[in-house]
Amino acid sequence: MLKQAYADSVWLPLTGSDVASNWNSLWDFLLWLSVFFFVLVVGAMIYLAIKYRKGRPGKTGYITGNHTLEIIWTVIPTVLLMVIFVWGYVVYNQMTRPPSDAMEVKVIGKQWSWTFQYEDGRTSPELYVPVNKPVKLVMSSEDVLHSFFIPNFRVKMDVVPGMYTSVWFEPTVVGKHQVFCTEYCGTAHSEMLTQVNVLDEQQYAAWKRGKDVGPIARAGGELVSEASAAEKPAALALSGLAAQGEKLMQAKGCVACHTTDGTTKIGPSYKGVFGSKREFIDGTSAVADEQYIRESIENPSAKVLKGFQPLMPTFKGQINEQEMNALIAYIKAQK
Ligand code: CUA
Repeated sequence: MLKQAYADSVWLPLTGSDVASNWNSLWDFLLWLSVFFFVLVVGAMIYLAIKYRKGRPGKTGYITGNHTLEIIWTVIPTVLLMVIFVWGYVVYNQMTRPPSDAMEVKVIGKQWSWTFQYEDGRTSPELYVPVNKPVKLVMSSEDVLHSFFIPNFRVKMDVVPGMYTSVWFEPTVVGKHQVFCTEYCGTAHSEMLTQVNVLDEQQYAAWKRGKDVGPIARAGGELVSEASAAEKPAALALSGLAAQGEKLMQAKGCVACHTTDGTTKIGPSYKGVFGSKREFIDGTSAVADEQYIRESIENPSAKVLKGFQPLMPTFKGQINEQEMNALIAYIKAQK
């Protein structure tokens, strides 16, 4: 278990899936093989440079050929490269061929959030999967190129508009695992974060029944960030419509650009917006009411606030009337 321990702490993120441990072994082999040849070649170079330095008396003999040497430096690298090829192929094959009984989850990337859609029709802004069961993700994008990366599972794949790509994994460690977008996709690319929640049998059974599984601990490892927890809106006791709105803000990815504590990210904070006078880049102004908030969601470039860029994508047709009311109620509650 020594290798596991160091892989988790020094070189690599946590080993959280089946594929990850095979990936680690291949990585270790490549790393140490490279280190060995680096030391051999650079060591010989330094030794010879000193041994045959300028001004040293005598002359090196003229070498015309050495069959033994030539065979050695042909056969050894050939064998090593074949080992790397076959080993790499085996791991690659494992990574790209999901077992036929894998559970399928759809992933939708969008500037700048992820949505997961399950067989039973539910959706969630974070991914929920059972431990020790194969999961296949079928991914697409609503707008631009994104890339779905779970470092702990060693899986990464582009998410492309107009086509389906997929990855699969079998998680082996219960807890939250960080997900990154690793393809630059616009202003809030670095905020396009989410979590894979790997649940034990009991938690997963509860989740399947639509019950709250309670807080999920982070799976160890340095790459798991606290960002999503830290950005949660200040502890306002929200209920009813506003609480629904809060969930929607997470699900639709609004929180990537907007805060509720008055700090400015890519877009303005929601704090104190409702009922305030808003000044726009074209010199006009308006008081923020329901109509203004709705317009800002559906047609964000119509009234761009002074000091901001027209960066927000339109949400027209993606938010129904009930959801719109919940969002407005939530913004209204940010006094
Ligand atoms: Cu999505 Cu970067």
